[in-house]
Amino acid sequence: MTGFPVDEVRRQFPALGAATVFLDNPAGTQVPRQVMDATAAAMAGAASNLGGCFQASRDAVAIYEGAHAAMADLLGADSGREIVVGQSMSALTFQISRSLGGGWKSGDEIIVTRMDHEGNVSPWLRLAQERGLIVRWLSFNPQTWRIEPQDLQPLLRANTRLLALNYASNLTGSINPVAELSKMARDAGALVYVDAVQFAPHGKVEAAALGCDFLACSAYKFFGPHLGVLWGRESLLTRLDACAVRCAPRDLPGRHEVGTPQTELLAGLSAAVDYWAWLGGRVGATGDRRARLSAAYRAATAHEMPLARHLIDGLLQIPQLRVQGITDAACMHRRVPTVSLTHPRHTNRRLAQALAELGINVWSGHNYALEAARHLGLDESDGVLRIGLAHYNTRGEVERIVSELARLMC
Ligand SMILES: Cc1ncc(COP(=O)(O)O)c(C=O)c1O
Repeated sequence: MTGFPVDEVRRQFPALGAATVFLDNPAGTQVPRQVMDATAAAMAGAASNLGGCFQASRDAVAIYEGAHAAMADLLGADSGREIVVGQSMSALTFQISRSLGGGWKSGDEIIVTRMDHEGNVSPWLRLAQERGLIVRWLSFNPQTWRIEPQDLQPLLRANTRLLALNYASNLTGSINPVAELSKMARDAGALVYVDAVQFAPHGKVEAAALGCDFLACSAYKFFGPHLGVLWGRESLLTRLDACAVRCAPRDLPGRHEVGTPQTELLAGLSAAVDYWAWLGGRVGATGDRRARLSAAYRAATAHEMPLARHLIDGLLQIPQLRVQGITDAACMHRRVPTVSLTHPRHTNRRLAQALAELGINVWSGHNYALEAARHLGLDESDGVLRIGLAHYNTRGEVERIVSELARLMC
């Protein structure tokens, strides 16, 4: 393959045109046509519950099973039995925290981070309050922008039940050494719950190989529908008490899924995985879906990260602007292409509004990474201006936002 087929990629996404520049991707990505078509087709042909004797119900079962198998491929799971689909990452985490907490007692300890999105903090804080658990806070290092293993070690105790941490930050974009941190926590007898929401749009997740116990992500961040997806070790998901109605299925994968499955969104979820597989094929991969998914992610990274470098270089030319994350060219492999900034003379909300008027979508605020904003000493309500690239963005779009920001900030 020569070059990333960005024009062809963009043609898959009806929302992408010249008018709007989508740099709000960490808050939600645009959707390829095949996801829309699959969702509509499921509503037309399989708008039925599971388990009936008739064709529409059999079709709904096929969609359900197909989506779990697809997500097993995307997340590197052993099988679709390890996949739990729910409303959102946050909803799944609240639910699983309840299931886990049933086995913990007052005085047990849990570790949460000052880097995570609230989706992987609030559920655990609430559980701690209800069950009398002790909460230990793990901070990220402001020089390296990531959680350093030596900072975890002193927090681990014999009665540490859980480490909850993110794979990549939705505010700074930095990637944590999750395999190393997971091993330390598991060696100490704790479970590890990883939030991969911001990693999954940019890097191939290999959940089973990573060494954690649970890993959650959100399909609407990787070009799919508004669904959350959780991977869990089969042995744990089987044992764990399920927060479900009494007559719900007791077997995996349905055991931890509450209520009737969102069949049309599951069809869209499979289609999102198949979009990635299509991209893998398009950049020259052959073989099974997992092989094509890996190739797609490699190609996406090879396209996105030079764009992120170009963005950072351009931003650093603007006087007084501070990038709140890794800028060192030698450390780009330690971040995703989410670049947050602050400027002493401008509020991020006003900048985001001015950019929106120019057709450039970005996000401002703490972005629910409340503790990270506090840890960085940022104005809590105004937070950062966050520019988040996806593999459908172009060098021209990067240059456009840099020149508009330079003009707005002069
Ligand atoms: C890192 C991270 N974790 C969790 C979430 C919450 O995901 P959901 O909207 O699926 O609950 C987000 C949403 O932005 C996020 O960026």
